[in-house]
Amino acid sequence: MATPRFQALRGTRDILSPESERQRALVDVFADHCRRAGYGQIVSPIFEDAGVFERVGESTEIVTKEMYEFEDRDGRRIALRPELTASVVRAFLQHNPTVPWKVWYEGPQFRHERPQAGRYRQFGQVGVEVLGSDDAHVDVEVIALGWRFYQALGLSRVRLLLNSLGDGASRPAYLDALRDHLEARRSELSEHSRDTLDRNPLRVLDSKRPEDADAIASAPLMADFLADETAAHFATVGAGLDALGIPFEISPRLVRGLDYYTRTTFEYASDALDTAQNAVGGGGRYDGLAESLGGKPTPGIGFALGIERILLACDAEGAFPAPSTTPQVFVVDVTGGMEASAIVDGLRSSGIAADRGFDQRSMKAQMKLADRSGAPWAVIVGEDELAADTVTVRDLVGDEGQTTVGRDDLLTEIARRVESNRRDAP
Ligand code: HAM
Repeated sequence: MATPRFQALRGTRDILSPESERQRALVDVFADHCRRAGYGQIVSPIFEDAGVFERVGESTEIVTKEMYEFEDRDGRRIALRPELTASVVRAFLQHNPTVPWKVWYEGPQFRHERPQAGRYRQFGQVGVEVLGSDDAHVDVEVIALGWRFYQALGLSRVRLLLNSLGDGASRPAYLDALRDHLEARRSELSEHSRDTLDRNPLRVLDSKRPEDADAIASAPLMADFLADETAAHFATVGAGLDALGIPFEISPRLVRGLDYYTRTTFEYASDALDTAQNAVGGGGRYDGLAESLGGKPTPGIGFALGIERILLACDAEGAFPAPSTTPQVFVVDVTGGMEASAIVDGLRSSGIAADRGFDQRSMKAQMKLADRSGAPWAVIVGEDELAADTVTVRDLVGDEGQTTVGRDDLLTEIARRVESNRRDAP
């Protein structure tokens, strides 16, 4: 086949059925967890004033190097959202809802990254944000929500990594110590990390480059610099997770790719994926973000989970298969097609998934389609059935054989078969 002239852009994909159904099912499971926990959905615009994301920080690569930015026809600087936390905080400041404001979201994000397995330029996230409380039990609720969601999908190889990045009181002393340490080793560092060091030494800890490994391994730890209150907050988060039986690992060098984080930060890593792309989700507190967007100081915490990566992890673990898209009934009509229209319409209206053939194909060709559809039953209308106002129901997978029933009895007959199939199911 000739290559079509246009293809989806690099790093973007068409998600076809049944994978698309699987994505939707995943979002449904997530939405259920959120609703049960009192989170309301927020649907915010896919594009925003680029300034909304610039506040995320000047050493955040998804903003400085990877953002899809353009000028619109009014000359305004617009960005396709690279993430949703900044949009949610912008919405919070705009609508001034009562706190704590607990929201969940789903949708595509855009980052001009180097595409590879599990890393795309358009990818889906589900996530939550809670604004207006810095209670450590909010941290526990949020982290547990993500954890229970992975469990509900059937993932068992996800690990929870936890760290505290300190706050306004404890961070500066740590940053000074870290900067001194890294400056003393500047010549050993990768060019990329030397550049990062000038903007945000914390982010050097995020480097996976081999040249940086020694300097990172010997770097001072935030944990040794936490102010008492922050350390106590972090201890409560750990105790809260312990109380829920949620296992976690303290990961003292975990820094996340966004600059807004303070205090609790976490990542969910899947051992079923390659280490380079094993983060199936991550989040943390961003107690200063509302202020940097021009609002009054408002604590916040949340996470976002990568839909594609979660499904890759599900593939690797044999979990959460795509839901069935198989019809229950396939209608074969060799009288011209009008009967099939009426029959599928009646079945579908009664909640039964029904499909049919088109193009007035032969009985043989339509029966082949019926077999290929995977439907357990074919409903057949030939000239005889048409004349007698009946239909023939044929079992395509089991051993119930075929029966001819009056047209008016078709629904009852199919409902009976569906029910008896359900009862027989293991
Ligand atoms: P993030 O770590 O940038 O955090 O992204 C969260 C998750 O999105 C990642 O763990 C990963 O699963 C997925 N992800 C990120 N980039 C890609 C990509 N290029 N292709 C496929 N999947 C990707 C945030 O976005 C923060 N807004 C999370 C947050 C919410 N923090 C507080 N609240």
